[in-house]
Amino acid sequence: ISLKPYNSFAIDVNAHYFAEIKTADDLNDLFQTGLLKTQKLLIVGGGSNILFTQDFAGLVIKVSIKGLNAAINGDNVLVTSGAGEVWNDFVNYCVANNFAGVENLSLIPGTVGASPVQNIGAYGVELKDVFESCTAFEIKTGQIETFTFEDCHFGYRESIFKGDFKGKYIITEVTFRLSSQPKINTSYGAIEAELRQRGIENPNIADVSAAVSHIRVSKLPDPSTIGNAGSFFKNPVIEKYEFADVVAKFPDVVHYPTPDGKIKLAAGWLIEQCGWKGRKVGETGTWKNQALVLVNHGNATGTEVFQFSEQIIDSVKSTFGVTLDREVNIL
Ligand code: EPU
Repeated sequence: ISLKPYNSFAIDVNAHYFAEIKTADDLNDLFQTGLLKTQKLLIVGGGSNILFTQDFAGLVIKVSIKGLNAAINGDNVLVTSGAGEVWNDFVNYCVANNFAGVENLSLIPGTVGASPVQNIGAYGVELKDVFESCTAFEIKTGQIETFTFEDCHFGYRESIFKGDFKGKYIITEVTFRLSSQPKINTSYGAIEAELRQRGIENPNIADVSAAVSHIRVSKLPDPSTIGNAGSFFKNPVIEKYEFADVVAKFPDVVHYPTPDGKIKLAAGWLIEQCGWKGRKVGETGTWKNQALVLVNHGNATGTEVFQFSEQIIDSVKSTFGVTLDREVNIL
């Protein structure tokens, strides 16, 4: 089966086996087949954070478990979503019901089940800020377990599901701690500017969601027309003494302090300074409005995109002495 419809980079590779999971019962049935023990596994939601460089010689499991419900207790709202809900459908449901907390995360591609894995984040909010718990199916035992916030060890684009528990669990449901009393967060300059332009002084969560959606559409390529996986690299976090060297040579370097006393650099800026922004190389390249996003212009192979990313890493390293790490999973 071709995996082209199941990865937002639209890379055309095949999987030996493929299963779509719609309910927890489907997972049990799959467990009974024994395939989970004999096959190499890949769990996909929206496929928006993967780059395939070869066929997948194993079983691809597409998680499509649906369902959204809310438990309201005063101002607190716990929303539980099936892992297979499209992330932005979940956000729209919350915005429509005035459940505040995820409006800044509007229009992020992918599914709810994938959101804790890399602690998705955008425009001043991360998944961990609203995460209550999740349930996950342990592949080895077939048991469903619950993970609390503490269990998940969230960091910048990190969690235990990318670390010690990588490949061991399938997230089935996520519960979010939201509120009917919004704490509007427009700390990210671009949102403030967009709201100002719209003449909105006291935004509600629908306004924030609309502003964020507008910014994303203007900056990021739509995967349904041009293959991509969002930011290809993470923004590098470096020590203060390393930053001193960079800023001495490049006084304009775009950077942000982190809560733990380090410095996060804007990878898009570093890549742009190296002359890569909007460059097309064969069937791949960087996006014209956001150099951190690599794209498939139509018929790129995963290897071509990967090799292009190596060129960018080398170039940023030799110019700034900073090593970029990939955010996208290479397979
Ligand atoms: N910049 C450039 N040139 C570029 C791109 C960015 O100079 O081509 C500089 C600009 O100064 C800009 C700054 O970098 O102000 C930050 O850019 P942007 O606001 O686009 O955010 P980002 O740091 O590049 C991160 C996330 C995005 C998220 C945005 C908004 C990572 C790896 N990426 O990008 O997440 O949408 O912030 O909060 O942290 C993703 O993870 O796939 C993703 C798209």
